[in-house]
Amino acid sequence: MNILVIGAGSRTASVLVPMLLDETTASIHLASSARIASDHERITSHQLDVTRREDLHNLVLSVMPNAVVNLVAYTDVDGCEQDRALAWRINVTLVEHLARACRSADAQLIHVSTDYVFDGSRGPYAETDTVGPVSYYGKSKLAGENALATSGIDWSVVRTNVVYGTMADKPDFLAWVLQRFDAREPVKAVTDQYSNPTFCDDLCETIIELINRRRTGIYHTGGTDYLSRYEFVTRVAELFHVPTSLVVPVTTADLNQTARRPMRGGLITLKTSSELGVRMTSVEHGLVAFRYRLLQKTKPPQGLMRGLQGT
Ligand SMILES: NC(=O)c1ccc[n+]([C@@H]2O[C@H](COP(=O)([O-])OP(=O)(O)OC[C@H]3O[C@@H](n4cnc5c(N)ncnc54)[C@H](OP(=O)(O)O)[C@@H]3O)[C@@H](O)[C@H]2O)c1
Repeated sequence: MNILVIGAGSRTASVLVPMLLDETTASIHLASSARIASDHERITSHQLDVTRREDLHNLVLSVMPNAVVNLVAYTDVDGCEQDRALAWRINVTLVEHLARACRSADAQLIHVSTDYVFDGSRGPYAETDTVGPVSYYGKSKLAGENALATSGIDWSVVRTNVVYGTMADKPDFLAWVLQRFDAREPVKAVTDQYSNPTFCDDLCETIIELINRRRTGIYHTGGTDYLSRYEFVTRVAELFHVPTSLVVPVTTADLNQTARRPMRGGLITLKTSSELGVRMTSVEHGLVAFRYRLLQKTKPPQGLMRGLQGT
């Protein structure tokens, strides 16, 4: 089996690729704007500009993958508001091109999306709930989903929210919080935005199960705890033995961000658990697993090591 991961330099790919190696016997092809060095015998890296339709098409036809995982996205929510053309090119047009290439190769396409496709008035949301994005990021991600719905290929959309536990150079929300804690800098966290943060491994496990079972349709991933960002960051501080006084409660209005956010977002994961057998992780277990993962790395930041060794 051949699996092609597009956006292999993304935060999610930092967890997905090792899991694909561990849990499948597939040959893994990585496509990225960056040169990804690997001497693993099952990995082939392809450096290209995936926004160039012809290059993308040629890549898919040369690899002839059974499954393509699309992790390419313009994920800067405020940035999407300001550069709508770029948001559309990355989050919609590229998905359309990819779907066409997958049709030529008869490949399944697994695409990752977000709870920002909902308006956030009454989350958490099920797959069957009515969408209604309140930001351009959410609108573009929804349009990307819709492009698949009419593509005529075997497609799956995995929606997720507040992904943490990744190991890429670019920090996810948790890694950003830990960097600030390490520098003993305060972290402003909103008390009025709710979600169920996703341990990245659960997202990746869902993607792998969708490939294994060649399942199509929309699937939600998220953790078992529904909480505000403030509560999440406070739990991080407690677990990493950082004074909780560094966590500064603010409201969304205080932040004055460019794009609107869903206030009660988050995703109900019953379908994913029952149909794919993926068990979602609690915040506590996710943080402990990530802390363990950090300890396995050779050089975690000094301050963090102190916090870790104290436990
Ligand atoms: N992170 C979250 O909390 C979160 C929450 C909800 C949904 N999601 C969804 O999950 C998926 C993966 O998210 P992620 O956080 O892992 O993504 P990410 O770290 O932001 O990476 C996205 C990747 O997209 C590619 N990319 C971005 N802008 C590009 C451009 N202008 N031209 C070409 N390529 C570009 C890059 O791939 P290369 O580096 O390989 O070139 C980049 O690494 C996305 O679909 C996102 O919408 C994420």
